[in-house]
Amino acid sequence: MCGLGIGWRLAQAGCRVDIFDRGAIGRGASHAAAGMLAAGVETEPGELDLLRLNLRSQQAWPAFAAELEAAGGQDIGYRDDGTLVVALTRDDERQLRFIHDYHCRAGIEVTLIGGGEARQREPYLNPRIPAAVWSPNDHQVDNRALTVALAAAAACAGAQLLPDCEVEAVRVENGRAAGVVVAGETVAADAVILAAGAWSRTVGGLEPSAVPPVRPIKGQMLALQMDPEAPLLRHVLWAPGIYLVPRRDGRLLIGATVEEKGFDETITAGGQYALLDAAWRALPGIEELPIAETWTGFRPGSRDDAPILGPGPVDGLVYATGHHRNGILLTPVTADLVSRFVLTGELDPALAPFTLARFDPALASGPASMAAE
Ligand code: GLY
Repeated sequence: MCGLGIGWRLAQAGCRVDIFDRGAIGRGASHAAAGMLAAGVETEPGELDLLRLNLRSQQAWPAFAAELEAAGGQDIGYRDDGTLVVALTRDDERQLRFIHDYHCRAGIEVTLIGGGEARQREPYLNPRIPAAVWSPNDHQVDNRALTVALAAAAACAGAQLLPDCEVEAVRVENGRAAGVVVAGETVAADAVILAAGAWSRTVGGLEPSAVPPVRPIKGQMLALQMDPEAPLLRHVLWAPGIYLVPRRDGRLLIGATVEEKGFDETITAGGQYALLDAAWRALPGIEELPIAETWTGFRPGSRDDAPILGPGPVDGLVYATGHHRNGILLTPVTADLVSRFVLTGELDPALAPFTLARFDPALASGPASMAAE
């Protein structure tokens, strides 16, 4: 998704842009995601730089969505209904209060509410829910519609979309990225943007220091079909072990497992059972709903779970990868700030904590450099 966003911005600025995809355009994590724009509730302790970037992108979302819908004339399902996080037991409640306090101290707007108030917002919740957190700024977008709209907008602005064209290597000449190799042929370019999601480290032609430490983190998901006229759920809902995302067309997305299994696409009974069981505990009425789809996706995870953005050791090679759980949320800020870097050479201070240099053993220290890939 971020590659499409950057390509759109560069094409708008008058650049000649080729967007290569190893499969159909935008069918990687962009297609598999749930589209949550959850800068608030997905924040974990120790991620303050990332929180700042996430919040900046979250604030950019309404204007980005409006601009994209105007450019392409298509609805991308942006919904600003907020998010509810529920506890199911007293133990969950203690954890919810702890993370709520942390979020408040981090400046995130969240409110602790009782089970009764949670059920006023979502009447079909398990009646035993003791407490919940209301997050008014965590919204959602239909990521599949977004992919289609971004691809159309990029093409309309003049970018060339090249599906089923895997980039085999970055062509480096005299220490500078001079283009990419596709089907054995070099396509020359002034700048190369490496935005291949979970596949980013499989692109050849780079010295080890220039290979982004990104690995696939498998997630299984499923969708149930609600009656769109009488949906069982209206807000994005987080409960222990899962999230549920209701779409306008009645699809109810349930996600996601977190599995370190490389590019394993298997949909397992255990994975689906865990999702359905956790969802049923929060919203028992799902047991009546038909299953519409099951799928897997691969989050591009970096060593410290933060994205890798901007320049690296090879001139002309720019990174936009490793977005892990936040690819859709970070699409606007990645598109704007990475394209600006390509156009002007100026690195926005918001990107400085996220360059590849943080993994350089000569420069980095602390957990990020020590953690396993
Ligand atoms: N951001 C949701 C997920 O990674 O499953």
